[in-house]
Amino acid sequence: MASHQLAGSSLGFRFSGVGSYLPAEIVTNDDLAEAMDSSDHWIRERTGIGQRHVGGTTSELATEAARAAMKRANVGPDEIDQLLLATTSPDYICPGTAPAVAEALGLDCGALDIQAACSGWVYGLVHANGLLLQGMERILVVGAEALDRITDYTDRGTGILFGNGAGAAVVERDPSGEGQLLSFDLGAAGEFVHILYAEHGDVLQMDGKEVFRQAVKAILRSANNALDRADLSVGEIDLVIPHQANIRIVESAWKKLGFSMEQTGMRLEETGNTSAASIPLVLDKMLDEGRLKSGDNVMFLGFGAGMTWATTIHRWAGESR
Ligand code: ACO
Repeated sequence: MASHQLAGSSLGFRFSGVGSYLPAEIVTNDDLAEAMDSSDHWIRERTGIGQRHVGGTTSELATEAARAAMKRANVGPDEIDQLLLATTSPDYICPGTAPAVAEALGLDCGALDIQAACSGWVYGLVHANGLLLQGMERILVVGAEALDRITDYTDRGTGILFGNGAGAAVVERDPSGEGQLLSFDLGAAGEFVHILYAEHGDVLQMDGKEVFRQAVKAILRSANNALDRADLSVGEIDLVIPHQANIRIVESAWKKLGFSMEQTGMRLEETGNTSAASIPLVLDKMLDEGRLKSGDNVMFLGFGAGMTWATTIHRWAGESR
């Protein structure tokens, strides 16, 4: 396989603005327990989730998050060269959702959906880097989900997990070379299509135990590949943001990898699993908390239906709050 090691690239890669958006309506675990045989205690203990947000369409949520990211980056619509929108809950089966978001934002550029489930936003960062290498200056990478459209909130296996939300980043070349995409790892294993899927017009179906097992395996493999390619150890990563699926998936993988929870960015309790939106939603919160400074090594780790997985390691440059 071709090497994915990018260290030393002179292109540079910075996050000039990050934003996120959660719709106002909240469904608590207690609300769910009224519709199914469950409890706040069980859901928190088995998943780490305390509530989830619902409402809005994917394009509406994406537009709000993107606006916030563009404002922070201080860029106007004419300065975006491409929109990449990661979603597994598009407004329509056809067309894609990205053109509607581009229209709402007033962009005049290419606009494309990425369907890689929970890994989609991290896939988007790697593809954005490719477009920067092609000569583009600035890419808007959004992860947005209206998972309430494909979730049965009376089903004990899936209804406890999923929620809506969106996160976005404006990424651009960093001529100073300070910010870098140090390495990445992308993967897919289509043999696992049927452990997590939704048919046309239907809700998500999941073999929870198998998803758990395969997710942990994917995390271990992808994180180790990316670390090797960046020539970094677990202890040299200042902040790791995993996809927010289930706290026990993260804890199981971390036990084997050696990451600590102190190194880890989480927002699962507040949001539930927001698929492609989950990592940028956490990133926005980490910036709010002042957890990132220039030169930090940051890892994003996505995994999800497909199965797909995607890891990037960045030397951080960009906004800090
Ligand atoms: N509330 C209360 N009790 C429940 C619930 C519930 N919501 N669901 C199951 N139970 C009960 C079962 O009836 C069973 O009871 P029993 O022992 O008396 O028979 C017991 O809890 C264990 O049931 P399991 O189905 O084995 O539950 P498990 O421990 O596997 O937990 C869960 C289910 C939380 C869905 C788990 O499998 C899981 O988190 N899997 C990963 C799924 C995931 O994260 N998907 C995210 C999407 S993919 C991605 O983003 C990567």
